[in-house]
Amino acid sequence: MKRTKVLDVLNMALPQGGSEEGASICVKGWVRSKRGSKGIFFIALNDGSTVKSVQIVGEEANFAEETIKRITTGACISVEGKLVESPAAGQASEIQATAIEIFGDCDNTYPLQKKGASMEYLRTVAHLRPRTNLFGAILRIRHNMAMAIHTYFHEHGYFYFHTPLITASDCEGAGNMFQVTTKNLYDLKKDEQGKIIYDDDFFGEQTSLTVSGQLEGELGATALGAIYTFGPTFRAENSNTPRHLAEFWMIEPEVAFLDQEELMDLEEDFIKYCVRWALEKCKDDLEFINNNKFITPNQDLIPRLEGVLKDNFVRLPYTEGINILQEAIKNGKKFEFPCNWGDDLASEHERYLVEEHFKKPVIMTDYPTAIKSFYMKQNPATPEGGSVGYKGCVAPGPTMQGTDVLFPSIGEIIGGSVREASYDKLMAEIERRKMDMTHLWWYLDTRKYGSCPHAGFGLGFERLILFVTGMQNIRDVIPFPRTPKNAEF
Ligand code: 4AD
Ligand code: MG
Repeated sequence: MKRTKVLDVLNMALPQGGSEEGASICVKGWVRSKRGSKGIFFIALNDGSTVKSVQIVGEEANFAEETIKRITTGACISVEGKLVESPAAGQASEIQATAIEIFGDCDNTYPLQKKGASMEYLRTVAHLRPRTNLFGAILRIRHNMAMAIHTYFHEHGYFYFHTPLITASDCEGAGNMFQVTTKNLYDLKKDEQGKIIYDDDFFGEQTSLTVSGQLEGELGATALGAIYTFGPTFRAENSNTPRHLAEFWMIEPEVAFLDQEELMDLEEDFIKYCVRWALEKCKDDLEFINNNKFITPNQDLIPRLEGVLKDNFVRLPYTEGINILQEAIKNGKKFEFPCNWGDDLASEHERYLVEEHFKKPVIMTDYPTAIKSFYMKQNPATPEGGSVGYKGCVAPGPTMQGTDVLFPSIGEIIGGSVREASYDKLMAEIERRKMDMTHLWWYLDTRKYGSCPHAGFGLGFERLILFVTGMQNIRDVIPFPRTPKNAEF
């Protein structure tokens, strides 16, 4: 008999005495639980198509004792039976089993025996945790967010642009890349100064895994008008935090002729679209997480998502943000890290602004040049050595149109900027930073030939999933996390 997915079974209409009632049906999946009473057994069967399990009811007298014994938590089975209205509360229908086949037994060494295992424990069995209700929900939401992202950009006329994962350049200028080589590490050729010779390496030069597709993305935007990338990125920073992965997925739209205000509009509209998509298309999974008090303190997840849709995000120059933080310190607020003008904001500062001061997402813009990347658009200087940025806000030092989105419980979810379009200004900044542009000559050509104003941003995919699922640790929103000292599974 043809298999029906549990999702479809649960959606089948069961009108009083209607045609579906009693229909013969076949379902296949994994046993979540089995219980019995008075010669009848009940199985909760899940096949991953939905967080909900279908109830199978069987009369012990109709099955071999051996078969019933083998229906254990985690076992994979196929059930044929009749779909009927369920007398029990909590479900509309159930299946009265007529035949059961065991595909795969599952003994009591199965690591997911018990309900309510800790997140830490589940990470040690990441090969099996997708079979839990919680991880099933998270992974279906993750899939839905990927679909939302592709749909958003496709509908808005952006082209999906594939940028390389192996690169000879370092986009963000930080020395935190994973090297890619086919060289024999036990026998490295070095020159007279002791530097490794790469001529004989696979690419004939030193290469790494990319930290961002932006620079190539700009080549796409300055040809196709509007592009986005969506792929894995790699950072070898040793940050063991609940918000950092060594391998994470990033979405990077890059758009010609977009200015600072339009960039903020795009960032806000895009995130809201994704959150709305989750609320509309992942209802069962969100409700499961929302109601699952034991697993995460998440009861307010759905109201929190709805809250983000209601408010306009605050648009705040960095300089004003620092003033607010300084004011808070004056009023007794304690932070672990300093936050004077020029400092990179720590996540505690970002979260104070978002969660305590404004109580809504903040788009922060016009950061000090010293803490941002070379390619960002420079704000006009004042004679006193300051600069003028968003809505005339005067900063005490040079600033750039870096435009990040800060979110409750996450901190930075998007990092973006308007790009410096002037070849001369860009070169001056590169020289000031003493950057070696040998491997980026092609990037400079965008400013040499038909340069155009443009802007873009990078959204950390897992940080979006963190927000949408309300999970607390980024290791729990990707199937197989890569973090320092951990590349298992
Ligand atoms: O702010 P970042 O470093 O910006 C860029 O890479 C730019 N080239 C993006 C652009 O303008 N096209 O990274 C962008 C986002 C961050 O805001 C954060 O959400 C996420 O990527 N991110 C990480 N997510 C997980 N683990 C890490 N180690 C991350 N580093 C950054
Ligand atoms: Mg950033």
